[in-house]
Amino acid sequence: MSQAILIINGPNLNLLGTREPQIYGSTTLADVETAAKQQAADLGVTMHTFQSNHEGAIIDRIHEARGNCQYIIINAGAYTHTSVGVRDALSGVAIPFVEVHITSAQTTASNGLPKAEVPILKDLTIDNITDNVNLINGQCPDPRLKYVLERLTQHLHDFARETRLSHEEWMTGLQFLTKVGQTCTEVRQEFILLSDIFGLSLLVDSIDHPKPPPSTEGTVLGPFHSHEAQPAPNGSLISHDPAGEPCLVLCTLSNTAGTPLAGVKIDIWETDSHGFYDVQYPGRDGPDQRAVMQSDEQGVFWFKAIVPVPYPIPHDGPVGQLLMKLRRHWFRPAHVHFMFEKEGYDHLITALYLRNDPYETSDAVFGVKESLLIDLGTVSAEQAQRYGVPEGSKLISYDFVLVGKAESDGLREANARAAMEKLGLGKMRMWRGLPVPDVD
Ligand SMILES: [Fe+2]
Repeated sequence: MSQAILIINGPNLNLLGTREPQIYGSTTLADVETAAKQQAADLGVTMHTFQSNHEGAIIDRIHEARGNCQYIIINAGAYTHTSVGVRDALSGVAIPFVEVHITSAQTTASNGLPKAEVPILKDLTIDNITDNVNLINGQCPDPRLKYVLERLTQHLHDFARETRLSHEEWMTGLQFLTKVGQTCTEVRQEFILLSDIFGLSLLVDSIDHPKPPPSTEGTVLGPFHSHEAQPAPNGSLISHDPAGEPCLVLCTLSNTAGTPLAGVKIDIWETDSHGFYDVQYPGRDGPDQRAVMQSDEQGVFWFKAIVPVPYPIPHDGPVGQLLMKLRRHWFRPAHVHFMFEKEGYDHLITALYLRNDPYETSDAVFGVKESLLIDLGTVSAEQAQRYGVPEGSKLISYDFVLVGKAESDGLREANARAAMEKLGLGKMRMWRGLPVPDVD
């Protein structure tokens, strides 16, 4: 009886010739099997071939080889790295086998990345774990992602070391974050809320969108901006809440040189008189208390709304529970949100806050800035006639100023350089407008 050899190919080898040909070549599995069978025939040996993407099928085929194959040649593909089952099957049938690979299994990890470049980690301790994590993350080719993760790892580890974080506290934190994620829906953004109540949202906006005088300062986006707002012409009534106190909002828009800006896209949103945004009503018909407008040729925009009221941020979820533990209230002072977009100008997300609101100095999300406080005015006879609202009704007026994108970008970069120097973070360079370590 002639001898028989079984060739087994594992997962993805059926794609040979088409899968990443720069690594695996353009020869197909059928080509390989035909060539092997021809060579075997020339030697008077019987050649069986088998390919499967399934671990169990490969194990079954190894078992079937008992008694009818004298040798096995196997390329288990990715199972080389992970399958104890395949390894046990080969040992179990006691058929001599040869393991082959197209690429080097020693230099290629199961995800296809080169193994040789992975640094060796050993003897991990409280003191060296941070360096080791940063060492292995340091392979990241994106310099900004690498830098951000390096700093994040450093601060997270220092936080654990400084607080002597207990396992129980760590699990409590993870469970809290899990609940925050589970609370998020299409219309509820608990993670933004969490960022807001930690002051992180305001901090990031202030860093990323510096607004030099006389440009209008930015503030938090908040969790209730939606993309459902409909375009509305100047003069539109954007709030249909009959219980709200009518209010004319009359504003101008200019650049830092005082030139009126026409055609600026303005996204506006506020709550109803009960302190709820439209998206907080499960059975709502459509968007309300929000609109997208454009400034006119004189850089003016105006609309009819209601006097904003203070309101509680959503507090029936994990963020509300955290505020309760911290003995913090969950109110925001009365405000109207605005978002401005115009080509060549820095994006402005801001809000106007009513002065003397009971929560003016304790905003749950840290959004209030002195320059964004306004006094509620009164519509004059002339304004009443011009804008079609009753004389004596409430008036919000404000002159917004947008800063040019180039100026804002330049200031952000200058601020970044100064901050890096102040923090003593070593030699840094700017990469796509953001700081990264300057390494050769
Ligand atoms: Fe708000």
